[in-house]
Amino acid sequence: VQVVHVTGARPNFPKAAPVVRALGARGVRQRLIHTGQHYDERMSDVFFRQLGLPEPDENLAVGSGSHAGQTGEVMVGLERLFVASRPGLVVVYGDVNSTLAAALVATKLGIPVAHVEAGLRSFNRSMPEEINRLVTDRVSELLFATSPDALVHLGNEGVDPARVHFVGNPMIDTLLANLHLFDVPLVRQQLSLPERYVVATLHRPANVDDPGDAAELTKALHTVADQVLIVLPLHPRGRASLAAAGLFPHPRIRVVEPQGYVEFLSLVRGARAVVTDSGGVQEETTVLGVPCLTLRAETERPVTISHGTNRLVTREELAEAVRALLVTQRPAAGWPTPPLWDGRAGSRIAEVIARFVGAG
Ligand code: UD1
Ligand code: UDP
Repeated sequence: VQVVHVTGARPNFPKAAPVVRALGARGVRQRLIHTGQHYDERMSDVFFRQLGLPEPDENLAVGSGSHAGQTGEVMVGLERLFVASRPGLVVVYGDVNSTLAAALVATKLGIPVAHVEAGLRSFNRSMPEEINRLVTDRVSELLFATSPDALVHLGNEGVDPARVHFVGNPMIDTLLANLHLFDVPLVRQQLSLPERYVVATLHRPANVDDPGDAAELTKALHTVADQVLIVLPLHPRGRASLAAAGLFPHPRIRVVEPQGYVEFLSLVRGARAVVTDSGGVQEETTVLGVPCLTLRAETERPVTISHGTNRLVTREELAEAVRALLVTQRPAAGWPTPPLWDGRAGSRIAEVIARFVGAG
């Protein structure tokens, strides 16, 4: 096998789909591994179905655990597979524990690693994802950057520019390929939503793990819900702490299961505003032109602020920020899109990979 893709968690799937498709079109021999980091049907299977990803060739079924436990289990499982059938290149996506684990295993076996979404930096090392990004980039042979700031960070860290490729954003390839399926009236009908609503997604440990944070967040969301209905497709992380903080029983907070990709982006498309701590959602709202309020102190995706509609807010600022958006008319013209977020990142990545493995 020439190329092995390692995926494991929800944000990996929309990033991998266009790369797998573009390499397939070039006739490159490839295999897809699922680590099983995410395993609920709504966190995993639905994406394979909706995004046309092939069934994984292997599923390591590692499940949930501590950082060391989860990362270690992925490493042991992948080492067995890579020793048994040595790939020419291992492709990893984003910044989750499965990404880091795969990069470490491959590089120690002398197998080159390609990192899709290299060079993003929050400069906040209390975020587990920041550690995963730093280490993964350090050991990667091919670094695929989605935005110009990533090129600057990798340059500052001394990465050889010959290894870095500015290719655009495969997550946005997936969004643009499915845009025609994002049906606002349908999803509003399915979830019985009024015309005016806000979507929220929250799952960062810094927002939901600690009961004190969960209580403050609940207070902030209730103040928003006094103005407008919030629909909240809730990630399994934080469900218990937000429930304990009393989030759910509010007449204008609609907590729903994690949504399928098409349903979720339909919801976002029709929303007056989005409140989030997700990485991917900051990017998707940028392209859809939906105002996004990010409940974080910093973002590793600054182009969503400079080119898009994103703004960082504190819990204290949230209600007023939503109020302001509800009374502002959105410009009818499209928003400027970050460079190369044009739907062709997957084919640019495939071109470089095919050359690298000698299949181009
Ligand atoms: C992971 C990523 C995070 C990403 C998020 C996207 C790491 C360190 N974090 O966080 O960067 O933003 O995915 O969704 O890799 N759980 C389920 N069902 C599942 C998966 C998880 O119930 O299918 C629950 C379990 O209780 C688990 C918890 O969610 O302990 C956290 O899962 P985990 O994969 O460790 O991290 P996420 O918070 O999902
Ligand atoms: N997403 C989805 N349904 C949901 C929430 C998210 O389909 O209920 C999609 C959406 O496309 C998002 C992606 O999953 O960009 C990954 O989001 P998540 O917030 O889980 O991860 P992050 O980008 O923060 O790492």
